[in-house]
Amino acid sequence: MTVYEVIDAKKKRRVLTEEQIRFFVRAVAQGRASDAQIAAFCMAVLLNGMTDEECFLLTDAMAKSGETPARPPVPGVIADKHSTGGVSDSTTLILVPVLCSLGVKCAKYSGRGLGHTGGTLDKLESFSGLRVGLSAAEFAEQIARVGGAIAGQTEHTVPADKRMYAVRDVTATVDSIPLIASSVMSKKLASFADVILLDVKYGDGAFLRTAPQAERLARLMVRIGARAGRKVAAAVTNMDAPLGDAVGCNAEVREAIAVLGGKKNALARLSLFLAEKLAAAALSLPEAEARARVEETIASGAALQKLAQIVSAQGGDARAVHDPSLQPLAPQKSVLCAEKSGVLRIAAKKLGEACLLLGGGRQREGDAVDHTVGILLRKHAGERVQKGEPVAEVYSRGNADEACSRAAEAFSYPRAYELPALVHTYIRAEDL
Ligand code: URA
Repeated sequence: MTVYEVIDAKKKRRVLTEEQIRFFVRAVAQGRASDAQIAAFCMAVLLNGMTDEECFLLTDAMAKSGETPARPPVPGVIADKHSTGGVSDSTTLILVPVLCSLGVKCAKYSGRGLGHTGGTLDKLESFSGLRVGLSAAEFAEQIARVGGAIAGQTEHTVPADKRMYAVRDVTATVDSIPLIASSVMSKKLASFADVILLDVKYGDGAFLRTAPQAERLARLMVRIGARAGRKVAAAVTNMDAPLGDAVGCNAEVREAIAVLGGKKNALARLSLFLAEKLAAAALSLPEAEARARVEETIASGAALQKLAQIVSAQGGDARAVHDPSLQPLAPQKSVLCAEKSGVLRIAAKKLGEACLLLGGGRQREGDAVDHTVGILLRKHAGERVQKGEPVAEVYSRGNADEACSRAAEAFSYPRAYELPALVHTYIRAEDL
């Protein structure tokens, strides 16, 4: 068998055999398939699709393409959560301490920002000194001792996805449902979490634009998880407008801390919804009781305390949890005002791009991220505003003209506008 033959078979719309799929993934992981061959394979999958069986086999082969860390010897279930990527989405920084403070162990492998979307690892590094590069042993030890850890996967986990993802990113092959499903689920299956909650986003600021596309992806990932013997559920959620009121690393970490301190907004609503679902599944509780426990652990300050413990365990300065001045915003402030009166509509993607232009994300692999730059919203999507009223503040260093114009393009003022429901559907394996 050759890599060429596998690509040719998918080009001719054939259903690939297990042997072909495993051969191809081994060739990718071992460097025997070139970038051009990976690109051709991904484009053939994007155009011709895959059956559920092919997608499961691809996911399984990718998950086993590198090291799989050993499960720490802790009692009870271990939970994980994954978002497909959005703007102003710091739910992980809220969810993990909430769940850990309720006694649910959390093993959270997170990523860096991708395109206009923010990444949890970049945000966590807003805590001075915090390390996200934990070894498998450190990750497991922290879960056993503190209850949870948030880290990046090592160089050696899921190498097939690392290569395929890098090629997809530059060959217009990211937005393929079987390729996204196998990429996300290979990373989840390579880890040891028993209960996995997926937040599958759709809308302006997400990789998938429509709810039906996101629902198809969510159902496929839940089926892959069930077939692998994991308890997987998925929430399909809207990402037309930024989830919270802050975009940028320090600004988003401050907002996550504020939500753990009781702040209420869409970010808090989604975080509490996801926490309730995960706590109910992990602790086998009725949802109403899980919800009451989630609210109680926030109200008592226990969840905020747990965040401080996780930050310290990873070498970070946990004083920032109680002192926002340790996560400063950039010194130059530009206020954006409503250009017209109307109902505020905010396009999440443009705001994410504006943050990228400020230096709050990477334009190229390896770029340094400025944690202090960002955008704070003064008004919410769906709110009525008057011409001239401030809608946002942009925090920058140096010339911010391009970023401010991109941010201004994110705001429009129709006569009527209603933001879609935050949670479109919630899918469990048992409902499929
Ligand atoms: N996130 C991933 O990990 N993979 C994708 O393909 C898309 C989003």
